[in-house]
Amino acid sequence: MEKVIILTGASRGIGRAAALMLAKENIVVMASRDINALIELKKEIGASGGKSEALPCDVAKENEVKKMIEDTIQKFGRIDVLINNAGFGIFKRADKFSLEEVENLFRVNLFGVFLCVKYTAPYMIEKKNGQIINISSVAGLNGFKGGSAYSATKFALNGYSESLREDLKEFGIAVSLVCPGGVNTGFGGAVADGKISRDFLLEPEDVARTIKYLVDESETANAKMIELKPRRRKEFR
Ligand SMILES: NC(=O)c1ccc[n+]([C@@H]2O[C@H](COP(=O)([O-])OP(=O)(O)OC[C@H]3O[C@@H](n4cnc5c(N)ncnc54)[C@H](OP(=O)(O)O)[C@@H]3O)[C@@H](O)[C@H]2O)c1
Repeated sequence: MEKVIILTGASRGIGRAAALMLAKENIVVMASRDINALIELKKEIGASGGKSEALPCDVAKENEVKKMIEDTIQKFGRIDVLINNAGFGIFKRADKFSLEEVENLFRVNLFGVFLCVKYTAPYMIEKKNGQIINISSVAGLNGFKGGSAYSATKFALNGYSESLREDLKEFGIAVSLVCPGGVNTGFGGAVADGKISRDFLLEPEDVARTIKYLVDESETANAKMIELKPRRRKEFR
């Protein structure tokens, strides 16, 4: 069955790969700050017969999240799946962070998810059905050098997701976490600046395939967490 899917952070990387894969069988509402990139992606999806919509949204801004979700409901009448993928990283020694940098990481990686859930969940609760898929990281399961602030946001996201699942399961809403290791995207930080080798990384399509598996999961099941490792990588991530 064709699902209406909101996918944040669809303009690049994992989100872009997931949008291309999911739009073959679903309607994907792509949300991020770079509306021009989303419009180009919408054209690409349309050219190969897929269905999507491009909506501008900074997930850290409550008014933009609220509008993006209201616009989705106005246009498609329902939200079957929310994929919280928007996120970024800053990596350095713990004492080198400014408070503002840490606050910004939490604003996007955690509060952005909180806002998208806050405004989407009521529609799913009303329908007594839905799926929320949160893109976390192995950094939400393990600490690592330089990862203090980023890991803190992803550990927090994992804790939030565990409780969210308990809150929503009586309404038939599944909550899943995907925790990928290093992915070959332009993701800011250690991977992008070459401190972590690009050898043996996951490809964005690997994560997209895992997301698609969750979107296609049966209505009676809820895979709680998938930790996706690059197969040949020596380091934990
Ligand atoms: N790459 C990795 O190694 C890795 C590993 C594990 C987990 N992850 C997680 O996977 C997710 C996607 O990462 P990626 O590797 O695909 O990164 P990416 O290539 O840098 O893409 C990040 C996406 O998030 C969006 N985004 C960032 N800030 C946003 C905001 N304030 N509001 C709305 N959208 C925002 C960006 O869109 P705009 O710039 O258009 O807003 C972009 O589409 C993140 O949550 C990341 O933490 C990544």
